[in-house]
Amino acid sequence: MSAPKKLFIKTYGCQMNVYDSERMAEALGGEGYVQTDTADDADMILLNTCHIREKAAEKVYSELGRFKPLKAENPDLKIGVAGCVAQAEGAEIIARQPMVDLVVGPQSYHRLPELERKAREGEKALDTDFPEEDKFDHLKTRPQARRGPTAFLTVQEGCDKFCAFCVVPYTRGAEVSRPAEGVMTEARDLVERGVREITLLGQNVNAYHGHDGGLAGLIWDLAEIDGLERIRFTTSHPNDMDEALIAAHGECEKLMPYLHLPVQAGSDKVLKAMNRKHTAEGYLRLIERIRAARPDLLLSGDFIVGFPGETEADFQATLDLVEEVGYGQAYSFKYSTRPGTPAAERAQVGEAEKNDRLQRLQALLNDQQRAAQDAMVGREVKVLFEKPGRQSGQMVGKSEYLHAVHVTSDKVERGDLRPVRIVQSNSNSLAGDVL
Ligand code: SAH
Ligand code: SF4
Ligand code: F3S
Repeated sequence: MSAPKKLFIKTYGCQMNVYDSERMAEALGGEGYVQTDTADDADMILLNTCHIREKAAEKVYSELGRFKPLKAENPDLKIGVAGCVAQAEGAEIIARQPMVDLVVGPQSYHRLPELERKAREGEKALDTDFPEEDKFDHLKTRPQARRGPTAFLTVQEGCDKFCAFCVVPYTRGAEVSRPAEGVMTEARDLVERGVREITLLGQNVNAYHGHDGGLAGLIWDLAEIDGLERIRFTTSHPNDMDEALIAAHGECEKLMPYLHLPVQAGSDKVLKAMNRKHTAEGYLRLIERIRAARPDLLLSGDFIVGFPGETEADFQATLDLVEEVGYGQAYSFKYSTRPGTPAAERAQVGEAEKNDRLQRLQALLNDQQRAAQDAMVGREVKVLFEKPGRQSGQMVGKSEYLHAVHVTSDKVERGDLRPVRIVQSNSNSLAGDVL
C-alpha cells in the first residue's frame, strides 16, 4: 500500500465551516488522505473560507500567496478553495490565483473525491452547483474513531431571510432542513464515540422543519438519547422563536440556558432598512417571554454598527437596547459592504464614525460580559471538561452558560461532567473548585 497522502485544512468563518471541514476530511479519507496540522508537508491544502465581511474574503488571497513557495517545492501539491468565497467567486478565484487547482462550494463536498481525482490529473476542478441531491446522504457514515466530549451537528443550511447586508442567502442557498431520522442517527453515533454535548447548527437553526415539531421536536427526541447530556443550538433568528422552542428552554433539562439571538441594531428605521422584519420592541418582548421560561438564561447577540443610513440617534437606540437586554456575551462588527447585496448600493457611513461607534458599543458589551461572569462567583455550576489547561494539573471545560471554567484537580478527566463552585472571575474565563 502506498503511504497516505496528507491533507491540511484551514477553517475560517462560522461553526458550520468547522463542521464542514470535518466532513470534507472524511470525504477525502476515503481517497487515502490523513489530516496533518501543518501546510508544509501537505499533498493537498484546502482553505474553507468565509465571505461574510470584506476582510474575511481578502484573507483567502493573502493566505494563498503564502503557499506559493510550497507549490514551487512540490509540484504535486494541490490547492483547493472551499466554503463561501468559493461559492461567491467560483472560477474568478482561479483567474486571480492560477495556482488554485480546485474550487468547491459548500453544497458539493460529497463530490470532493471526484474533484480531487480531476485535480490530480492536472485539470482545474470546479463545482459550485446547488445540486438536487442532498450532500448529507452522500457523505458516508463517519469513521468509528473516539471523539472529544463536544461536537457540532449541522441540521439546517441556507437562509431565505435576505437581510440587506448579508451574503449567506447567496453563498449557502435556500433554507434546507435535514430529516430528523438522519440527524438522530448521526447524534447516536457521536454519543457512542464519546460525545456528551451536541450543538445543533444552522444559519437559521430555529427555522428547522425536518421534524413535525420543528427544532423543539428535534431537541426533545435528542434528549431521549442516553449518554447525551447537553444540547445547544445556534444561530437563531428572532422571528423563528416559536412557542414550543421557548417552552423547551424552561422544560428540557438537557437544553442549556444559553441563547444566541442576534438583533443587529436597536433602531426600527435601521432594522427596517436591514430587512430584519422585526422591531426593537418586538425583540425586547420576545426576550421577556424567553426569560419568563428560563430566568437564568444567558443571552448572546450580534450587532452591526454603521449600516448605511445609521445616524448617531439610531446608534444610540442600539446602545439603549443593549442596556435594556443585558447580554452575557456578544459579537459586534462594523458594517462591511458586500457586492451583490442590496445595502451595498446605498450611501455609506464614514469609516471614522463606524470606528467610534464600534468602540463605544464594545465597551458597553464588554462591561456586560464582565458583569455576567462576575455574577457567577460563589455559584455552583456544572462543567463538562474538555481539555487540560495551560498550567499542569489544570483542566478546562464549559459551564451550562458556555463560560470557560478552569479547575486544578487530578480527579477530573476529559469528558467528565462535574459540579464546580466558582471562586474567581478572570478576564476571559472563570476559576472554580470541583465539588
Ligand atoms: N444567520 C445568523 C448569522 C449570520 S452571519 C443570523 O441571522 O443572525 C453572522 C453575523 O455576521 C451576523 O449576525 C451579522 O451580525 C454579521 N454580518 C453579516 N453580514 C455582515 C456585513 N455585511 N457586515 C458586517 N457584519 C455582518
Ligand atoms: Fe444573513 Fe439575515 Fe440570513 Fe442571518 S438571517 S444568515 S443575517 S440573511
Ligand atoms: Fe462565513 Fe459562510 Fe459562515 S460566509 S459566516 S462561512 S456561512
